[in-house]
Amino acid sequence: MSELELEQLVCEYRTELLGTDCVIPRFGWKIRSEKRNTRQQAYRIQVADAADFSRPIWDTGRTESDYSIQVEYEGPALLSRTRYYYRVQVWDQFGRQSQWSAAEWWETAFLDSREWQASWITPSDDTTGTVSLPVSMLRRTFRLKTAVTSARIYATAAGLYEIYLNGSRVGEEWLTPGWTSYQHRHQYQTYDVTEYLCEGSNALGIQLADGWYTGRLGWDKQSGHYGKQRAVLLELHVRYEDGSEETVCTDASWKAAEGPILFSGIYDGELYDARKEQPGWSEDGFDDLDWQETIVAKLPYSQLVAQENWPVRVTEILTPQQVIHTPSGDTLLDMGQNMVGRVRLNLHLSAGTHLILQHAEVLDREGNFYTGNLRSAKQRVEYIAKGAGVANFASFFSFQGFRYVKIEGLSELNDTQLLQGFTGEVMHSAMEPTGQFQCSDERINQLQRNIVWGQRGNFIDVPTDCPQRDERLGWTGDAQVFIRTAAFNYQVAPFFGKWLRDLEADQRLDGSVPFVIPNILDNNAANANEGQTNTSAAWGDAAVICPWTQYLCYGDERLLGEQYDSMKAWVEYIRRQGDNEYLWNTGFHFGDWLALDAKENSYIGATPLELIATSFYANSVRILRDAAVVLGKSPEVRHYSDMLNRIVEAFRREFVTPAGRLAAPTQTAHVLTLMFGLVEGQDRERTARELNDLVVNNKYHLTTGFVGTPYLCLVLSDHGYHDTAVQLLLQDNYPSWLYSVSQGATTIWEHWDGIKPDGTFWSDDMNSYNHYAYGAIGDWMYRYLAGLDMDETETAYKMIRIYPRFAGGRLTSASARLESPYGAIESSWTEEEGRRTLEVQIPVNTTARITLSGAKLGRLTESGNPLTDVEGIGAMEESVEGVQLTAGSGTYRSLIRWRVQKCSLLVRLASMKRIG
Ligand code: BGC
Repeated sequence: MSELELEQLVCEYRTELLGTDCVIPRFGWKIRSEKRNTRQQAYRIQVADAADFSRPIWDTGRTESDYSIQVEYEGPALLSRTRYYYRVQVWDQFGRQSQWSAAEWWETAFLDSREWQASWITPSDDTTGTVSLPVSMLRRTFRLKTAVTSARIYATAAGLYEIYLNGSRVGEEWLTPGWTSYQHRHQYQTYDVTEYLCEGSNALGIQLADGWYTGRLGWDKQSGHYGKQRAVLLELHVRYEDGSEETVCTDASWKAAEGPILFSGIYDGELYDARKEQPGWSEDGFDDLDWQETIVAKLPYSQLVAQENWPVRVTEILTPQQVIHTPSGDTLLDMGQNMVGRVRLNLHLSAGTHLILQHAEVLDREGNFYTGNLRSAKQRVEYIAKGAGVANFASFFSFQGFRYVKIEGLSELNDTQLLQGFTGEVMHSAMEPTGQFQCSDERINQLQRNIVWGQRGNFIDVPTDCPQRDERLGWTGDAQVFIRTAAFNYQVAPFFGKWLRDLEADQRLDGSVPFVIPNILDNNAANANEGQTNTSAAWGDAAVICPWTQYLCYGDERLLGEQYDSMKAWVEYIRRQGDNEYLWNTGFHFGDWLALDAKENSYIGATPLELIATSFYANSVRILRDAAVVLGKSPEVRHYSDMLNRIVEAFRREFVTPAGRLAAPTQTAHVLTLMFGLVEGQDRERTARELNDLVVNNKYHLTTGFVGTPYLCLVLSDHGYHDTAVQLLLQDNYPSWLYSVSQGATTIWEHWDGIKPDGTFWSDDMNSYNHYAYGAIGDWMYRYLAGLDMDETETAYKMIRIYPRFAGGRLTSASARLESPYGAIESSWTEEEGRRTLEVQIPVNTTARITLSGAKLGRLTESGNPLTDVEGIGAMEESVEGVQLTAGSGTYRSLIRWRVQKCSLLVRLASMKRIG
């Protein structure tokens, strides 16, 4: 067995990528080596159209390079609907050569949307566009001359669809085709259906619902945002053993009928009448004589794109924890977790039983079922039984956010029967989990779980604000504050890549970025592009922050290049807004949304809007300048550097007194000023000290909202006040991250006081219990508390930064693990009575810079050996902070130990004092 091994090959971030229209895919691989400090010296990639690689179409030969992610395909032009195999071999700097990796594959779909042959069809009864129409069923039969060697379906819908072949549901995806800016980009999916077909007669069936396309979206109850007519488009391509092909398409020969789903809506749930089922409807031999003709719909093809995102799937099944009988007489199931997805029932029900399930996130003070915060979203699933056999049902085209399920119509069942009759199916974009964080405080571990559940529940094809009320929209501000945390917990590259392309598609001609992406709040042509101000600082900045974060976390330079014009358009939009080019002091802004220093009855915190807008302006210009550096756009680098300087000057003139005091005495104002580097030297020290004072004088409580909260602990830790940051995190009375945990929360709340200490609620109006924004603290927990970070001079964790800040004795351990593009990174520490240990794991082909706080050179050991002698450990130096060292790949499992040096602590205290 070779000592150098390859694993986890990916093409465009995924293994077995079925159905992409990417014409220049990028490859990545991970290398395993027992030997420390291993780096890749060279690679060789082969791509072939047969699994045995007998005729590679591309062979790089040995290529001297340490690139092992984002390596672009450079072979001959790819063909549509073709499976390609690839494999990789590498050499390291010790001269070792790996075996070929196991072969991986990806498969193209239509590389040109003009290749579509099928017609969009619509059920003829379905032209009014009201949301109350039953879900349509469509079908047709076809014959296959012999057995097939392979078969694919390519399909999409204006609406939501699912496919059946010979009676079986195709694929494990739900809520297809997902939600995009449909006018510009409409995803289709690819399914391998080889196993579903048989020689002779076959039948295809489709269920077609409203979903995001024709259904109601937004709190104004409007439906038909993208069109008034549902339609579906499908092509089945079969390949016979003799190499010949046959295609079955949607066309006017299909027939349609109404099915048992009498109603379906994203917010409102579903109504299913099992008595209206038509057994065998998607099989051959079914009598469809009384079904109607379908008609060809005039929908375009040019906007069709292959699936880009992780598909939505059921990723976990929860069983109810208890049955609750409430004071007001309701019977509830408690799932034990605020989850997103649907309830499945599996029960014997007598004919005509009418079961009603309602979904809610919390109970009120009295312990009763509470749906006030859902606003107009019904989250109601009804099922009418037909009586024969077991009723096995879950809604098809809807999802709910809930922990409690109110059950009506089953009064004859006892609690045990109820517990056994239902399960909760957790649904979200099936991103790969990549991160884990834990520490010695179980409350923080619960917070981390809540952050992860918040991410799962709100990553349903788009990053939504919340999954329960009549919103569930891709709010840009929420997405930008959370993206860095999101990229720790899960692999989010395809998820945000897709969303950013929608952002660019929906960005207005003047460069302003809509509040929500996909934009359904002003996609009425009459409103669009007329310079209206429904954009906001810190929300629109998602256009800049998100591509940059993707670039940092995944090294995705291509996405950065693709988004560059959108980033620039946003910055140029801002430049035209202020009455001075370098200040943004006009227009509407959400400000420090939901901050606790807001005036009575306002959602907008006390931090001046101009300060927030101008500081984000500076941040976006800085990022744009850095993006221009990466993309080699020298004139723009100069232009935006100059612009940044002027914005910073203007900011100081406007918001910093000559003595260096920040003119706005809010926590958030200080946080943004520090985070975005808007003051320097003594002014910076003063701003940091005053921020610390604001927190300490508030008895270690925050007052920040959406805009200040994500960076609060980061800037405290960065400016010598890490202990204050730790105390903020460990605070458990209101307001704090742990307050909701102490109230039994299992997700992140929208408001710091979603449930007040006396058990009453924040108003019904805006009170989500599953809103990930404040979960952005996760980023600090990984990077600062556990100390797993990157050195941003290189992307994607090529240069790892391990720098645990410890917790001043308030925690005895913390650890984080991240499956980075190069492999698993781990940083794990303990501290007891001044004795510190650190374990790290560094993947092959990366280097780590490690800071051992409070350590002294010469006293460091690993397994009892002086660290200087340990293989893999490179240059070491002592600094005020402790010891800095570099380490090559390897698992430094046997502990690095040291005792916190009193003198070094003293130096640190002194230096903090100086800053302070
Ligand atoms: C959403 C937020 C969003 C906000 C705009 C709310 O209704 O739920 O999370 O960012 O509006 O301020």
